[in-house]
Amino acid sequence: MSGEIINNINHLNLNNDNDENEDVVDPWNVVSKSETGVDYNKLIQKFGSSKIDQELIDRFEKVTGKKVHHLLRRGVFFSHRDMHTILTNYESGKPFYLYTGRGPSSSSMHLGHLIPFTLCKWLQDVFDVPLVIQLTDDEKTLWKDIKLEEAHKMAYENAKDIIAVGFNVEKTFIFSDLDYIGQCPEFYRNMIRIQKCVTFNQVKGIFGFDDSTVIGKIGFPAVQATPCLSTSFPDIFGNKKIQCLIPCAIDQDPYFRMTRDVSPRLGFKKPALLHSKFFPALQGAQTKMSASDANTTIFCNDTPKQVKNKINKHAFSGGQATVEDHRKLGGNCDIDISYQYLKFFLEDDEKLEQIRRDYTSGALLTGELKKILIDILTPLLIEQQRRRAKITDEVLKQYMTPRKLNFNI
Ligand code: TRP
Repeated sequence: MSGEIINNINHLNLNNDNDENEDVVDPWNVVSKSETGVDYNKLIQKFGSSKIDQELIDRFEKVTGKKVHHLLRRGVFFSHRDMHTILTNYESGKPFYLYTGRGPSSSSMHLGHLIPFTLCKWLQDVFDVPLVIQLTDDEKTLWKDIKLEEAHKMAYENAKDIIAVGFNVEKTFIFSDLDYIGQCPEFYRNMIRIQKCVTFNQVKGIFGFDDSTVIGKIGFPAVQATPCLSTSFPDIFGNKKIQCLIPCAIDQDPYFRMTRDVSPRLGFKKPALLHSKFFPALQGAQTKMSASDANTTIFCNDTPKQVKNKINKHAFSGGQATVEDHRKLGGNCDIDISYQYLKFFLEDDEKLEQIRRDYTSGALLTGELKKILIDILTPLLIEQQRRRAKITDEVLKQYMTPRKLNFNI
């Protein structure tokens, strides 16, 4: 039996095929050779997930009675696992909970980091479900040149950025691994149960570990898998087994492919997933936005002046070299970063479509398009910063205390 499982996991293996033109997508790298970025349809095939198609969107709208969030409508969330099961169960009164997370590797989060949280907030409101948020300070101290104390501190800083997205304190639990795991025997027990199910050979295949990998990394995938088992949160769920739904960027899928293999063996439902595309770097869609390069990145705490400068200076343009050519030939929205960002942040579908038409025809110039983006983004960021400034240590503590949440199961 275990041989079968090994094969099962291994043939879902990651990237790094020998093909030089393949996109690389794993929890640590995102690189594409193409100006339009990663080929996401290929990724669905490679990972064996399902496309979020019109049928699923229609079902979402039927079940919730609401228009879906623009991140779903526009295909930013493009792939899923078992979302139909979640909706079917929800329709028959069976609840689910949301789980997502963040590896605190920088003290301020950036725009790309907000995407899964933005969808979580919408899902929490629309379905009225609890949400658990894992801050993997343990992961970051293991993988990066960051001291444990520093990673722990950044987890708390990041928690403020996350709370500022607007989560309901009565339905949200945020935890630092370094704090919670030592505090909660049920979590640790589930972690060990998961570790007992997965061999070194399997994680080697999935995560590319080798003989010189520190052992903390080798055990870590079980830490990220454990919140998928509801009994890891006895204050919230008691000992009830409830299915979870994980909105995350597609690079986190390897962790959950592993979890989906293990959880039925432990008597739990497989976690369902909603996968997002990457938020492109300012310099172009070949790579994702990264906190380690300030020039490619807009941080949640950037000032309006910084935002303006970064976009004007660094946002890759799909426009022509001269105004004359641009008017004649038009711009290319598929590679233009300002347009790509508007897809994430401009809610109004008609306005977005008008901008696309005008830029493609050449009626709208690159400088004008950048100004539109700056004018949309600046108030959003100011608002996020205003909400963050109001979060006192007391409020932070409320979200981060293990406790009963307000919902019925
Ligand atoms: N590993 C993720 C990161 O580095 C953090 C994380 C933990 C996460 N649990 C998660 C992300 C669940 C998405 C969903 O950012």
